[in-house]
Amino acid sequence: MDSPQAVQLGPRKKRPRQMGTSGASIPHDVRFRDLVLFILEKKMGTTRRAFLMDLARRKGFRVENELSDSVTHIVAENNTGSDVLEWLQLQNIKASSELELLDISWLTECMRAGKPVEMMGRHQLVVRRNSSLSSVPGSQNGPAAVQRISQYACQRRTTLNNYNQVFTDAFDILAENDEFRENEVSCLAFMRAASVLKSLPFPIISMKDTEGIPCLGDKTKCVIEGIIEDGESSEAKAVLNDERYKSFKLFTSVFGVGLKTAEKWFRMGYRTLSEIKSDKSLKFTQMQKAGFLYYEDLVSRVSRPEAEAVSMLVKEAVVAFLPDALVTMTGGFRRGKMTGHDVDFLITSPEATEDEEQQLLHKVTDFWRQQGLLLYCDIIESTFEKFKQPSRKVDALDHFQKCFLILKLHHGRVHREKSSEQEGKSWKAIRVDLVMCPYDRWAFALLGWTGSRQFERDLRRYATHERKMMLDNHALYDKTKRMFLEAESEEEIFAHLGLDYIEPWERNA
Ligand code: CTP
Ligand code: MN
Ligand code: MN
Repeated sequence: MDSPQAVQLGPRKKRPRQMGTSGASIPHDVRFRDLVLFILEKKMGTTRRAFLMDLARRKGFRVENELSDSVTHIVAENNTGSDVLEWLQLQNIKASSELELLDISWLTECMRAGKPVEMMGRHQLVVRRNSSLSSVPGSQNGPAAVQRISQYACQRRTTLNNYNQVFTDAFDILAENDEFRENEVSCLAFMRAASVLKSLPFPIISMKDTEGIPCLGDKTKCVIEGIIEDGESSEAKAVLNDERYKSFKLFTSVFGVGLKTAEKWFRMGYRTLSEIKSDKSLKFTQMQKAGFLYYEDLVSRVSRPEAEAVSMLVKEAVVAFLPDALVTMTGGFRRGKMTGHDVDFLITSPEATEDEEQQLLHKVTDFWRQQGLLLYCDIIESTFEKFKQPSRKVDALDHFQKCFLILKLHHGRVHREKSSEQEGKSWKAIRVDLVMCPYDRWAFALLGWTGSRQFERDLRRYATHERKMMLDNHALYDKTKRMFLEAESEEEIFAHLGLDYIEPWERNA
């Protein structure tokens, strides 16, 4: 991590003055006319500031001596975003939303490049978002330039570019441990904290950086503080060494094993999978049998080329029975992830009759069975009702017809850069989820199955608490208007909810 403190440009010690006046130097040609810089003296000092101003000017940047309306970029050193905003307020200057507040690291990189470099999250001192993202009812509005980070993941853009992985990894572990111990409140707190940190466009370097960030309580702040001090979390480290956590993690890594079964096996004193497999008195479900049988393949994650190969397989089979069907890869892969624990697909058809719709998953899986590709298959029939109001639950199960599968993917179907064949085995077992939905519910199902889980939870929470609407994977209901709101695309659903559209790859909350 490049901390701003590590960056040093030029002398900090006093130097003999080269020019008559400190600020107004010899005119240099301005090469970059779109930018007008102002360098903050606070915590930087006069000499260093003068040196940096001169250097920037020599490189063709326009640098102002005084802060004026024409300034577009304020550069500061050893200041947080709130420090700079405080300073601006003291000067009685209202920071317009156009004004960029940047760390010295941005200027350093510009100087090195000899031209303006792209402003990345790590350079930005305040989190700036579209104004509508800040219009959370009930939230107090800070200074004009600071857009409050929403407590709802559906009002944040969370790409896979995570600047705070040290913290979020620890929170993910702590949340999982709470899940295993059924500490729901604490689990949710850690999940929300991880989620909000994943959305930050900068790394947290000091506790000051956490100011104004929602979803961080005393407990989570304590963990952050520990990591800032020691570079790792003692709490997360303790969990990783905990017997119960280790066992639950191992047991639930078997397809078909949930918390209840893990708990049972843990209580029976089991700590390894081989102990469990060799206990002849234990009864396993079909799912668990398949889970043990294909364990190695299923724990090794699905790569994107493998997911693409599965996609071909699914599309070929689906279109053979319903030529007009639409097949969309959903889940983590739609959010841009490079690997997944499974591959998820949503299927719909504009023309199919109800019967044809209900038959499709049966036909497709029968077809694979005949080809010897179906290693496991569990079809759940639809319980979907057209006029039923969306569920109130945040983690509601959906009612569409679906199937949980394990498919045999032949290596020949995967375009791989390097061949790393396992000896003697020319295929890999892959977990695949297929969901079939009525054509008019496609947008809702797509939104619901794209995830992430945290993003979905917060969409529903937002709909309920901020809009008096009910959203689930099937429909959106407006309680004030007492009517269902229809949608043909995800964009329309966001619009109904009064939310800015968040792209799938920005939903990695
Ligand atoms: N989902 C759902 N109902 C279920 C299962 C899943 O609505 N019964 C949704 C969840 O919102 C989830 C998405 O479908 O985000 C995909 O689920 P899953 O495959 O479990 O998660 P991914 O995000 O795809 O993660 P991974 O890469 O580990 O598969
Ligand atoms: Mn998935
Ligand atoms: Mn899935």
